[in-house]
Amino acid sequence: MKYKFIDLFSGIGGFRAGFEKNKCDCVFSSEIDEHAREMYQANYDEKVFNDITKIDEKKIPNHDILLAGFPCQPFSIAGEKKGFEDTRGTLFFDIERILKEKKPKAIVLENVKHFKNHDSGYTLKVVLNALNKLGYTTSWKVLNAKDFGVPQNRERTIIIGSSNGIKFNYNKLNLQQTICIKDILEDDKGQVEYLKEDDYTIIKNPKKQSSGLIFVGYRNKKIRTKGTRPDTIHLSRVHKQPNRIYSSDGTHPTLSSGESAGRYFVYHDGKVRKLTLKECYRLMGFNDNFKLLGSKAKLYNRIGNSIVIPMVEEIARQLKEQILTKTDKIIKCQKSPIQMSLFENIKDKAVE
Ligand SMILES: C[S@@+](CC[C@H](N)C(=O)[O-])C[C@H]1O[C@@H](n2cnc3c(N)ncnc32)[C@H](O)[C@@H]1O
Repeated sequence: MKYKFIDLFSGIGGFRAGFEKNKCDCVFSSEIDEHAREMYQANYDEKVFNDITKIDEKKIPNHDILLAGFPCQPFSIAGEKKGFEDTRGTLFFDIERILKEKKPKAIVLENVKHFKNHDSGYTLKVVLNALNKLGYTTSWKVLNAKDFGVPQNRERTIIIGSSNGIKFNYNKLNLQQTICIKDILEDDKGQVEYLKEDDYTIIKNPKKQSSGLIFVGYRNKKIRTKGTRPDTIHLSRVHKQPNRIYSSDGTHPTLSSGESAGRYFVYHDGKVRKLTLKECYRLMGFNDNFKLLGSKAKLYNRIGNSIVIPMVEEIARQLKEQILTKTDKIIKCQKSPIQMSLFENIKDKAVE
């Protein structure tokens, strides 16, 4: 069966690519940023709707899965004091009203790693409560892109909900061995920018961190002095992120939506080079045929905002296996009381 999904806060379609690879069909997309919409339309040949807050939920097509990498905003703490969760005025409220109207079988939400700690954990609590109230069984976990075949240390909070009572089991996700930055570098055909030797320092005895990062040096710029101890220049944290240099034998730090100049430097074959735009897109799992339109600054913003495609691909595969195909079986069973006992069996097995 081909499942239908909607792609909210769609960016340049990272979520979409991962679900399409699992033979799911997109029936609606919404994105407020004009440049992101242009890129999405060029790559997927489909109209993207604008601001989700202005779209009537009744006009959104029926779908099986709602996908949303929604911006993180605080909820009103006053809501908690009054004993209810007030989500009005936030973009999560728009997700809620679509769920109420359309009742998809499954939901996948994505946010930054620190979403779980945002507003001392209150934001996550409100989101989970709201989904539970709408009848969704939820589970969440912080996943790292480096475990899904791309050499980037990018941690993201993933929330999955199902309407059939089955809790998504993250332990069933197929993890892959971490690869290195050098595995995704393109050949230098004159397009690669190098730093001059005088512009950087390589440290002695660099160490690989558990994240796979190998901090090897820094650009010779000012370091942070406030709150730092003397003789800590060999530590990555005293250097601002764009001045840090990482070895191509390790993973890359998180690409950021705020980095318009693409200051991502790697030490490779004895030289320090900037990652090319193509390499940044590869670090998010986009293939080289993906059309890159507009200015470099905007292209860097877009890629830093995206979700890593191979991670989504594996989530989509497991979502179909653990939740969607079982929902279909349950619907068939509900037509026959004898088969209803099978449903309970399926549910119990899924959470084991
Ligand atoms: C974290 S990004 C999601 C990126 C996407 N998952 C991808 O793979 O590229 C959040 C996106 O929400 C969009 N956005 C913010 N407010 C919006 C709104 N009111 N309506 C539609 N999109 C919105 C932003 O422009 C941004 O592209």
